[in-house]
Amino acid sequence: MTAPTTLERRGYPPLPLPSSAVTPGVTGGRAPYEGYQRGVGLEYGGLREAVEAHPLYQEALRAASGRTVMSGDRLKNLFLIVALFFDPLASRNIIEFGCYKGGSVLFFATLLKRLYPEAKVYGLDTFAGMPASERGLDLHGEGEFADTDIASIRKTAKSLKLDNVMLVKGLVQDTFPAGLPGKLDFGLAHIDLDLYAPIKHAQDSVWGRMTRGGYVVYDDATASTCIGATQAVEELIAERRIHSEQVFPHFVFRAGLEAAQGQSSLHG
Ligand SMILES: C[S@@+](CC[C@H](N)C(=O)[O-])C[C@H]1O[C@@H](n2cnc3c(N)ncnc32)[C@H](O)[C@@H]1O
Repeated sequence: MTAPTTLERRGYPPLPLPSSAVTPGVTGGRAPYEGYQRGVGLEYGGLREAVEAHPLYQEALRAASGRTVMSGDRLKNLFLIVALFFDPLASRNIIEFGCYKGGSVLFFATLLKRLYPEAKVYGLDTFAGMPASERGLDLHGEGEFADTDIASIRKTAKSLKLDNVMLVKGLVQDTFPAGLPGKLDFGLAHIDLDLYAPIKHAQDSVWGRMTRGGYVVYDDATASTCIGATQAVEELIAERRIHSEQVFPHFVFRAGLEAAQGQSSLHG
């Protein structure tokens, strides 16, 4: 008999994951079995519908309502990571680089509040639109995503009783790590900045603050509109000599498992 997950212990219905034909374990700094469970499960295995029907996913989606430009599949995969893969992690704090109207921050905050109330969500953005970008590389640029308001995000968090949301305003190059408390580490870093330079900064500076086995997820590096984000991920792979755990519905990497070759995963 396997021990109940936190999801079940908190009174939510279980969400069975499909099994995969590959052998569980870590290879190349990630756990392919777990990536297949989520990615193949969502794309072909009926997991999309199962997540959509889950009451905790529905509550988190309501909190994000009208405030996110993220795709449904990507929100579902992030839900799976937090709801089913967070138990073995030593830190469950979440950091998001690129929040816009705060939809994904409120989504994460709802999940943590219900499952891991000791953890917090840190949301970093200018909350005033995009800064200037590299015109020969990035399609997005200055002034886009400016129709947001940090005070209104804070007000919505308060009305939903989400006291676990910390918003940090400014260029991520200035605010991370300097604008955050000293010794914080993270179970999930969600990078959704669309532009090469801030993504490169975020991935380089957050890697050493990820808890062992923590998840580094990119919203936009496989989007046709974000070749700068793709370049940042290509450099991450080349410099750290790691492989991704998922490419659908977005890139997912695991931090701190580089030396764990052959070991069973944290979930083993
Ligand atoms: C696609 S939006 C984020 C979407 C959001 N996660 C959601 O749920 O809808 C990208 C965000 O990145 C922010 N951004 C881009 N470059 C930045 C930088 N250097 N520093 C801070 N924020 C930045 C923009 O202000 C914008 O709000």
